[in-house]
Amino acid sequence: MRIYSAAKVPIDWEPVDVTPSLINGKTTLPQPAVDSINKNTIALKGPLATPVGKGHQSMNLTLRRTFNLYANVRPCKSVEGYKTPYDGVDTVLIRENTEGEYSGIEHEIVPGVVQSIKLITKKASERCIRYAFEYALSSGRNEVLVVHKASIMKLSDGLFVQTAKEVAKEYPTVKLGFESLDNTSLKLCMDPSDYKRLVMVMPNLYGDIMSDLSSGLIGGLGLTPSGNMGAKVAIFEAVHGSAPDIAGKGLANPTALLLSSCMMLRHMQLNEFADKIESAVLTTIASGPENRTGDLRGTASTSHFTDEVIKKLN
Ligand code: IPM
Ligand code: MN
Repeated sequence: MRIYSAAKVPIDWEPVDVTPSLINGKTTLPQPAVDSINKNTIALKGPLATPVGKGHQSMNLTLRRTFNLYANVRPCKSVEGYKTPYDGVDTVLIRENTEGEYSGIEHEIVPGVVQSIKLITKKASERCIRYAFEYALSSGRNEVLVVHKASIMKLSDGLFVQTAKEVAKEYPTVKLGFESLDNTSLKLCMDPSDYKRLVMVMPNLYGDIMSDLSSGLIGGLGLTPSGNMGAKVAIFEAVHGSAPDIAGKGLANPTALLLSSCMMLRHMQLNEFADKIESAVLTTIASGPENRTGDLRGTASTSHFTDEVIKKLN
């Protein structure tokens, strides 16, 4: 299906339904969706709610796992013209995306005693950390900062840290730094400008938490995009979830998904289109509360905001 958008982006879209079924107790994507994503290698994903009541695992995690999307790139940049207590935030966080506390290995040992396994492998750490170094090289950021808690998680985070030291040897022009997760949280809240010229990389759950924290600095989850990168497939999505409580009310802010689309276009080397759409989105936000959605202290409905963006593209 070819949809000519206002920005005239040359993309043939293939819409796919990813509603899963439970096969042998496992959340399983429909085969046509899997085939389409494997064939096209690039996907833009809307917020998905996990089907309830059937013992399904998260849809997001299922997609990340199915396509082995090992590095989750989460940039976070202040919107000029939208005031928050922080100015000039410009962070990039790369989250290991396949294991850690998300490995789903949990059990009850005896009633009242449970165990959730944080699984860290050298292989998954290495490919994610290597992705962070490559990102640093191509973006001109000159440091990879490994965020960890190896003082307590001696083996798991210790392996992550050790792996980073080894990978860093292949990248002599990129600085390697280490910081404890609690300290990074403190410093990000006190002065995020310290994180401008580096790329943070961290295990899965830390990345989940720190990316929400970063979003909070610039105005919330309505603004932050992400890319789930694998060896073959890349899936772009907003950092936020599906927010069923506001569905259909015209309250949602489409910015995070629009900026995820811009990330996707850059991944496809369609930079000029990405620049044009990004600029239309950001200038619309900056143009005043009447053109911003409620999460950004504005009064615009989703469709009013979108119309304003489209006007700037025509
Ligand atoms: C995210 C989300 C997901 C996560 C949820 C929806 C499973 O919070 O992409 O950050 O925890 O990874
Ligand atoms: Mn999250």
